[in-house]
Amino acid sequence: MLSQRRSLIVTSALPYANGPIHLGHLVEYIQSDIWCRYQKMQQHQCTHVCADDAHGTAIMLRAKRERMSPSVFLAQVIREHKADFAGFHIDFDYYYSTNTPENRILCNKIYEHNRAGGHIARRVISQAYDPEAEQFLPDRFIQGTCPKCGATEQYGDHCEACGAIYSPTDLINPTSAISGATPVTRESEHLFFKLADFTESLQQWCQAGHVQPEVANKLQEWFDAGLADWDISRDEPYYGFPIPGEKGKYFYVWVDAPIGYIASFNKYCQSLGMEYDSHWQPESDTELYHFIGKDIITFHTLFWPALLEGAGLRRPTGVFAHGFLTVNGRKMSKSRGTFIRASTYLRHLNPEYLRYYFATRLTSGLDDIDLNFADFAQRINSDLVGKVVNIASRCAGFIHKQCYSQLSAVCAEPELYQEFAAARHEICDYYEQREYAKAMRCIMALADRANQYINEEKPWVLAKQEDHGMAVQKVCSVGLNLFRLLIFYLKPVLPIMTREAEIFLNTHFYDWSDCDKPLLRHTIKPFEPLLTRINPADIEAMLADTEETGRLV
Ligand code: 2FM
Ligand code: ZN
Repeated sequence: MLSQRRSLIVTSALPYANGPIHLGHLVEYIQSDIWCRYQKMQQHQCTHVCADDAHGTAIMLRAKRERMSPSVFLAQVIREHKADFAGFHIDFDYYYSTNTPENRILCNKIYEHNRAGGHIARRVISQAYDPEAEQFLPDRFIQGTCPKCGATEQYGDHCEACGAIYSPTDLINPTSAISGATPVTRESEHLFFKLADFTESLQQWCQAGHVQPEVANKLQEWFDAGLADWDISRDEPYYGFPIPGEKGKYFYVWVDAPIGYIASFNKYCQSLGMEYDSHWQPESDTELYHFIGKDIITFHTLFWPALLEGAGLRRPTGVFAHGFLTVNGRKMSKSRGTFIRASTYLRHLNPEYLRYYFATRLTSGLDDIDLNFADFAQRINSDLVGKVVNIASRCAGFIHKQCYSQLSAVCAEPELYQEFAAARHEICDYYEQREYAKAMRCIMALADRANQYINEEKPWVLAKQEDHGMAVQKVCSVGLNLFRLLIFYLKPVLPIMTREAEIFLNTHFYDWSDCDKPLLRHTIKPFEPLLTRINPADIEAMLADTEETGRLV
């Protein structure tokens, strides 16, 4: 099974440093973490990097509101984000920030190359300006009445009430969300990245399998419409990196954010004394994958590969977009109490429940994923507790009490065992393709099969018969060996439960080929319940806590 050892850099989208991690974010981090754990189990060289997305107007204003300097505020948010990720066992190899000297240097280099290549244009644009706060206003900082339906307190360029899309200048009685002043229009010179210079190579790249088919189709519409210049500058005051050679101009946050992937990876290599530049050269054999939400596809499939190309660097091998999270069938919402923070969840429920639940819903496509709490409880209780853990709890007692804790010397069901071992090829393919839902279905079908075997052999009946020892040992040893394979297969999803199962089985996963050999004449350790059923009261308590926390913000 072990093919050539691949070298992979995997990134997850950098969370904005202006708010907490919530369950919507976790769809992605759980998806990418499972993938990286799987790649590492394949013995590939896989490095998973992430960072806080530190720059931009929203963060600058948030820090101001909290009466902190942006850097003190950032340090606090990064600490919280890291704790949330650790709580869900998201195992980044390196977690950095975009506000670092390394990122600034890289940003300047990439910009300079593109400028020298003639890919930067400049022109004057008109924008909304807050005369009191003395700053330009991004769209979503302009508030007013919808010109279509008259709903008040609508932000930016669309109406939450009627869905109308308009220009923020069309809002009736517009005010600045920063100072309350009426915005005026002001001119300013901006720098633009000439995306159209890369049309042909982007089109080829998109059609060469680096993006999902539905993304390629969507992008074709953009190519057909013609690629417009991309505004990459912002006027001061702005929390970000100054653009070299320009007065009072900063890089738009979306320029330095993806460059933060490179900075984080390089910093990781540096910390280990490893070379890093070669991975970013166009001829590199290292594969580069970005996991992202479907709302940021254009940044990763148009601007980002083009910026890289303009700087003479390699482009991504794959951009994997996923859908959004809905809760009980509806968009996550603060007013409905479904905007659940990672930290709130962790106060009430085991993180591996959510990891498994998301795995049962995740595919390689862009469809939204629904977290339905009734289904959530049912899946965990019936699949993990009722099927998988049940196999071990049904067999362990007999082996301990009647067989001196030792498994049999031969496998009584070699064919059944080999059937389970062979299933790993299919399961591995599903993991590789990010078809986790299919992998989980396949594993649960095997778990059903193992339980069926135990039901048929009835070790509890055998145990009551005279000279029962051998027969019980044989059946329960088969059961535990099948359980061991299921645990291997679930390891990318459930790292903690499988670690505990490995302790119980007194074994450790080294390589997939370990699956070929059952544990024979092998002593196991005492069995502790590996996972308990979800108590619906814990879900209720988490939702109540969410409402409570929401009120405090
Ligand atoms: O959409 C977001 O949450 C951004 N902070 C993601 C940035 S990903 C990247 F390119 F850095
Ligand atoms: Zn409206």
